[in-house]
Amino acid sequence: MNAPELLFHSAPTPLTLLDRLDQNVFNALYARSLVYNTCWEDPAVDRQALQLGADDSVMVISSAGCNVLDYALDAPARIHAVDANPRQNALLELKIAAIRRLDFEDFFAIFGEGYHPRFAELYRSSLRAELSDFAREWWDKHGVWFTSPLGSFYYHGLAGLVARGFRAYFKMRPKLAADVQDLFAAAELSEQRRIYDERIAAAMWTPAMRWVLGRQLTLSLLGVPHPQRRLVQAQHTDGVAGFVREAIEYVFRHLSVADNYFWRVYVNGRYTRECCPEYLKPDNFQALKAGLVDRIRTHTCTVTEFLHETKKPISRFVLLDHMDWMSSYHPAALVEEWNAILSRARGGARILLRSAHADPDFLRWVKVSHESRRLDEVLKIDRALAARLHQQDRVHTYAGFMVADVPG
Ligand SMILES: C[S@@+](CC[C@H](N)C(=O)[O-])C[C@H]1O[C@@H](n2cnc3c(N)ncnc32)[C@H](O)[C@@H]1O
Repeated sequence: MNAPELLFHSAPTPLTLLDRLDQNVFNALYARSLVYNTCWEDPAVDRQALQLGADDSVMVISSAGCNVLDYALDAPARIHAVDANPRQNALLELKIAAIRRLDFEDFFAIFGEGYHPRFAELYRSSLRAELSDFAREWWDKHGVWFTSPLGSFYYHGLAGLVARGFRAYFKMRPKLAADVQDLFAAAELSEQRRIYDERIAAAMWTPAMRWVLGRQLTLSLLGVPHPQRRLVQAQHTDGVAGFVREAIEYVFRHLSVADNYFWRVYVNGRYTRECCPEYLKPDNFQALKAGLVDRIRTHTCTVTEFLHETKKPISRFVLLDHMDWMSSYHPAALVEEWNAILSRARGGARILLRSAHADPDFLRWVKVSHESRRLDEVLKIDRALAARLHQQDRVHTYAGFMVADVPG
């Protein structure tokens, strides 16, 4: 079954030859890969903004599915997990099948450790029959990622290649690797900050690290196409490397890493029972198994296609940072998507999105509704709430976080 057409063609932004090359590399990588093996957006922040209730109907982009399962713990009536990349939904489907059919220990080995020696047997006996045709075809080939000689599923998929890069880098720098483990083991924020300032910062931000972070290929592996890279570069004197350094310094110097499973899984290739996504905690696993997981529906299509197909109004939208991909490549599609969102939104619906830009300019040039009004004039944007919640964000690699309501 082929993925919906979501490739990026030349667009209003004049593209250099190098951009075209980067774009073709990104499309080639994207078109046949699982990009995100874990969600890189903080659901704890989202849930505070969403304030989900029993009658809410949520539309969220699936990515790796971790956050879809997190939102389900607030028991909304329905969660529509939409993703144009069928491999992302195949990962969510596998998680849902495993919640339904496996016990907690097997489930944690697979998605907590990223490794289960008996995965093939569990897959054949309990999981395969639960999957859609595409997901079955995909995991028939890629189930080996859970018994991988690399030691973990989290070293697979495009983002997994970056985790492998981290591991190789730390192998070459054992002292820095030990210092980073000490930082993750720090009991107090003050000790964590001291370890970062005295033992990590100077050792980490070398010209080589800056060079690697500045390569489009590194960013493509992280699902960041060149328009999004440009947005970052436009806002930071030190370019992408400067932006990443600032994000990491905020996370390691201002937030406790004790529960920061985002950066931990990329440094260690696995979660721990104390530091992992909510769906990997025993009580939450049982709550999902007891029925919350049945409220999730997966849809492999674009957001616009889903909103044109569905008949029921949606009260909560979680759009991740996918509009950065569209705003420079596909402005017409972005306008179409916003009109679809507003026409399917229940009165008072809430919308969350992230962006590499602190204040995405599409909020000003997208015109919506038959009056062709500016988006930022139609939406009630709660900048104060977003700013307050953004400070808690354990990922912190998005300059922009938007919380907006559709007028009632
Ligand atoms: C920019 S990424 C977001 C990933 C997110 N930041 C994360 O780390 O979890 C976009 C995700 O949205 C999907 N996507 C991008 N554009 C889409 C669209 N128009 N409709 C549906 N899914 C889309 C991609 O397949 C990918 O899984």
